Amino acid sequence: MNVEATSGFGAKLRSRRQQIKLNEHHLADRLGINAETVREWEQSHDLPDLTLAQVSDIAKALDTNPATLVPGHRSDLDNGVKLQYAGDADAITGKRGGAEYYTYHCLVRTHTAPNMVPLLVDVLRQGEDESQFNAGHPGGEFIYVLEGDVHMRWGDPEAPSKADLPQGSSIYIAPFVPHAFVATTPAARLLAVNF
Ligand SMILES: [Fe+2]
Repeated sequence: MNVEATSGFGAKLRSRRQQIKLNEHHLADRLGINAETVREWEQSHDLPDLTLAQVSDIAKALDTNPATLVPGHRSDLDNGVKLQYAGDADAITGKRGGAEYYTYHCLVRTHTAPNMVPLLVDVLRQGEDESQFNAGHPGGEFIYVLEGDVHMRWGDPEAPSKADLPQGSSIYIAPFVPHAFVATTPAARLLAVNF
């Protein structure tokens, strides 16, 4: 694996900035500081005198996890990419209401984008009456109905909204909106990306 910028904060900052094609002025603008300060940080071998909140702001401006800027942190990317080959997805089956409900196949994740959680989801229960709600979760979710047809319920479990979604449908779910899927064909599979 090609290890990127394993040295100090400045080198990591420059590496990430260049990776996302920002120049020093763009980054400075995002942070409300001048480009000279960015240049000084990048050229310094020492850790600049920054608070955790400032490091967090810098990481946000670089669309990355603050941990990736910490000296000694090793990127899990190879030249800006992380690969997970077919067959390497861990599978976890979750229960709801005492019965197996979904099997989650965990797709590629990286600690440079810790909030991105891509999953293939096998919907194990069939029939609209089998709906079992979650409590919603932080972060948004994108879903694509990859195989089979599904019935979706969302919102207040006592008075939910409902939709029948054939294969090829796509869905956005806002944070903390309870939701449930069941298959309306013998098998159904979703591609879900939490972010
Ligand atoms: Fe979800």
